[in-house]
Amino acid sequence: MIEVITKNDLDNIAECWADSLPFNIHTIVGKKIIKAYLNYFFENEFNIGYKITTNAQIDGFVLYGNEKIINQKIMKKHFFEILISFFRNLFLFNFKKIFQYFDVFLFLIFTKNYEYLKKDIELISICVLKNKQNKGLGTKLIQNSFAKSNFVSKYKKIYVQTLLSTPNNINFYKKNGFRQEKIIYGRIYLSKTL
Ligand SMILES: CC(C)(COP(=O)(O)OP(=O)(O)OC[C@H]1O[C@@H](n2cnc3c(N)ncnc32)[C@H](O)[C@@H]1OP(=O)(O)O)[C@@H](O)C(=O)NCCC(=O)NCCS
Repeated sequence: MIEVITKNDLDNIAECWADSLPFNIHTIVGKKIIKAYLNYFFENEFNIGYKITTNAQIDGFVLYGNEKIINQKIMKKHFFEILISFFRNLFLFNFKKIFQYFDVFLFLIFTKNYEYLKKDIELISICVLKNKQNKGLGTKLIQNSFAKSNFVSKYKKIYVQTLLSTPNNINFYKKNGFRQEKIIYGRIYLSKTL
């Protein structure tokens, strides 16, 4: 079943996020940051998310809207938490995780004045639980949420950004009608005309 997500789903969505994206910067910093991120997501009435469930259990979710505003709030309000978690990982010699901090930080600086996404909508995030991946759930999430959403008539294009180092994701988006537009700082931007 595919339904709109609400604040009541916050804990389950954070679980799904951490499970499917273990090396995402928010997962590394901790579930508290994921929940803060989701709270900021709900603050913007134009943002909308959908969940896919079996027997009331969330198997996956997709978020649409504007991520830049959320990231700005995270950096402003949670900078010290991020810094502490950075030093904790440095102390533990978690080099893969430390690389993630630098990568995200430099990316945010590098794309600070980037106007690219301003007038269109973004597929901010899509996740399916690890043990449910590659069974068509991600595709169902995209197709059904597009069919249900009014952003399809409000915007001309939808964008998504993913790491160049994740060819499976790129393949997933291409199979769902996205086309490559640009490559910026290790990220590939794909778009789909609505
Ligand atoms: C990307 C993701 C949402 C796709 O959902 P899904 O339910 O696994 O995808 P579907 O079954 O609908 O589609 C399968 C296609 O997606 C691609 N794919 C992406 N991630 C995959 C994964 N971890 N395992 C298998 N296939 C994956 C494959 O190329 C596959 O195409 P193929 O059938 O030609 O091999 C899901 O794999 C996921 O949650 N990944 C981790 C989180 C993530 O990276 N999200 C995207 C951030 S930009």
